[in-house]
Amino acid sequence: MRLDKYLSQSGERSRSEAGKLIRSGAVRVDGQVVLRPETQLSAQSVVTLAGETVEDSSMQYVMLHKPAGVLTAVRDSRAQTVMDLVPEALKRRKVLPVGRLDKDTTGLLLLTNDGELAHRLLSPARHVWKQYRATVEGRLTQADVDAFAAGLQLSDFTAKPARLSIVEADDARSVALVEVHEGKFHQVKRMFAAVGHEVTALHRHSFGTLALPQDLPVGACRPLTDEEVQALRECTALKNESKDKGPSDGRGTTNG
Ligand code: URA
Repeated sequence: MRLDKYLSQSGERSRSEAGKLIRSGAVRVDGQVVLRPETQLSAQSVVTLAGETVEDSSMQYVMLHKPAGVLTAVRDSRAQTVMDLVPEALKRRKVLPVGRLDKDTTGLLLLTNDGELAHRLLSPARHVWKQYRATVEGRLTQADVDAFAAGLQLSDFTAKPARLSIVEADDARSVALVEVHEGKFHQVKRMFAAVGHEVTALHRHSFGTLALPQDLPVGACRPLTDEEVQALRECTALKNESKDKGPSDGRGTTNG
């Protein structure tokens, strides 16, 4: 990001006021006076104004290709957490996971410090669809597809209708794509258990409009593009908040 943009975003000043401050010699980047407003900062740059550190208050959005065996938690005394896979500069900017994936679940996890967007993405009022690829024990059949579409009765709640599409099926094992717009604890695993199939692997492909790119290596993260952020905002808008937005809804509490 440009230095003048960073300064104007971080304080109550316009871009041209930020430019004047920079040209006056009051701003340092990594200890060096910098006089050019267009100077590019890296994620690690430390900016000071009259000796005081200027914190970056910009919103940060990052997607992580979560590996198996990593906890979706901010810290844990024993296990590796998703925060261990996020660069220090983003941790300093207080990005947090949006919802959670189980320790053995792989795939797309969004992290951000945009509390409002995170809240919208997790809100049961805005049915944000998530797509998973599930490998399960036993043969999946059309009866399972119908049961998911009807809404499954679990021990403590009835799961909302979900889309199940069988990719391959034999007596030992099946693979399916499943789309849900709730996020209750172990939701997908519990839905399969309710129709008699144990999940042996679960991978999240997409979250709302955001899809895990095929070239993002396991354990790696990358910032969202402006277009990806905008699309997420639009898919979480309620109908009465915008006339030109599509259907809105949401999902539950724990898995996400
Ligand atoms: N449903 C699950 O059962 N586990 C996850 O990690 C995500 C959704």
